[in-house]
Amino acid sequence: MVSVIFPAAGQGKRMHAGRNKVFLDLDGEPIVLRTLRRFSAVPEVDELIVVTGKDDLAAMEQLLAQAAGLKPWQVVVGGSERQYSVLNGLRAASPQADILLVHDAARPLVSVQTIGDVIRAARKYGAAIAAVPCKDTIKVVDEAGIVQSTPARRTLWAVQTPQGFQRDILLKADAQAESDGFLGTDDASLVERLGVPVHVVTAGYENIKVTTPGDMLIAEAFLHTDQ
Ligand code: CTP
Ligand code: MG
Repeated sequence: MVSVIFPAAGQGKRMHAGRNKVFLDLDGEPIVLRTLRRFSAVPEVDELIVVTGKDDLAAMEQLLAQAAGLKPWQVVVGGSERQYSVLNGLRAASPQADILLVHDAARPLVSVQTIGDVIRAARKYGAAIAAVPCKDTIKVVDEAGIVQSTPARRTLWAVQTPQGFQRDILLKADAQAESDGFLGTDDASLVERLGVPVHVVTAGYENIKVTTPGDMLIAEAFLHTDQ
């Protein structure tokens, strides 16, 4: 069984919308609903767990209750950091879930193909993440603004979600991070600390995280093209 956890408990500060960005209409439909619809179109997905802020709980439940065609869902309250929100979602997942996926609610353009690819790779290898090769040259820069190094671009990937894991691996990674006080910027970084290999699944450049007002325009443009 596959359960998907959707962190949606952020404040969307960089969007400057005065509310959680996942409720904003993207081409006539709230971002979070678009995200859940993509996952509901994947046969292997069994359960959707949406993690939201305490103040948004009622609004989220109301929004999802009105939506037709979603896979079975529940809404739980998140934490002050994304990692804590994911952990709350994890605790709510069905005990029958052997594969757990984590996907930012703010990535509504994820393809059904990528979701399926991550599920299959997580089953096969234990841990898998969606990513795309970096298009830009990336430099490591110190606090004084001086370039320290230029890693070879062919080794660099921009990481997205979904990220998928066998249940025992993710639970072990979370327990270790908690006991070490480690806070990662994605879920796989917790698993990497265990020494478990994380497999990269090539995804699409359209799978952006809607973060700023400009991203709304870009996401709309992608929705209007054949992506
Ligand atoms: N998120 C969460 N719990 C938090 C922080 C973030 O569930 N404490 C979620 C967001 O709702 C979002 C995803 O994690 O779907 C990725 O985070 P980000 O894009 O940074 O969203 P926000 O934190 O809402 O935006 P900002 O950083 O601009 O405030
Ligand atoms: Mg944030």
